[in-house]
Amino acid sequence: MPWPIPPLPNGRPGFTRLQHDDAVVLAAALPGGAAEPGWVIGDLSVFLKSVQSRQVALGWVVDPDFQGRGYATEAARAVMRFAFDEICAHRVYAQVDPRKAASVALCLRPGMRLEATLIEREIFKGEWGDLAVYAVLEREWAATERALGLVQPDQAD
Ligand SMILES: CC(C)(COP(=O)(O)OP(=O)(O)OC[C@H]1O[C@@H](n2cnc3c(N)ncnc32)[C@H](O)[C@@H]1OP(=O)(O)O)[C@@H](O)C(=O)NCCC(=O)NCCS
Repeated sequence: MPWPIPPLPNGRPGFTRLQHDDAVVLAAALPGGAAEPGWVIGDLSVFLKSVQSRQVALGWVVDPDFQGRGYATEAARAVMRFAFDEICAHRVYAQVDPRKAASVALCLRPGMRLEATLIEREIFKGEWGDLAVYAVLEREWAATERALGLVQPDQAD
């Protein structure tokens, strides 16, 4: 999967080839002023889990002082748009602890749906815990964006 990188020294556009398990970690920041950078309030990770099948996994964390204001939802939508529009993902998913309501809500709000609950898939703090898999497909994402009026009909095809 070719991926644009900063221009080469000769000014020509460059490309690198993405591989399995390549990842990018993006900062979620509040807008800064003209003279100062934005305040980083969290990060979102994008993992390319399969190049051939275009499967992308997401992870996220937001500073507790900045939770409950919709910032994570806005950031999650932005990384999903990045995954579908820039990496051409076919399916984007997140694996979360189903007991963590905020994580589950963050999956559902931008349009992911529950695909599976893996029973005792992880050990959390010394105890077996389940893992919930939430996902959204490219066509589902496009339909949601269209419904929200964020994409013109001819752009989504
Ligand atoms: C998962 C996590 C990022 C969610 O953060 P969050 O602050 O709950 O999510 P949001 O920023 O989208 O805020 C949602 C809340 O803001 C409210 N809100 C206000 N304005 C909003 C807006 N414009 N859009 C969406 N929600 C808005 C929502 O109603 C919701 O309130 P509620 O919690 O009372 O229901 C956070 O809980 C976290 O960092 N957890 C630890 C890490 C983790 O578990 N990661 C998951 C494993 S990958």
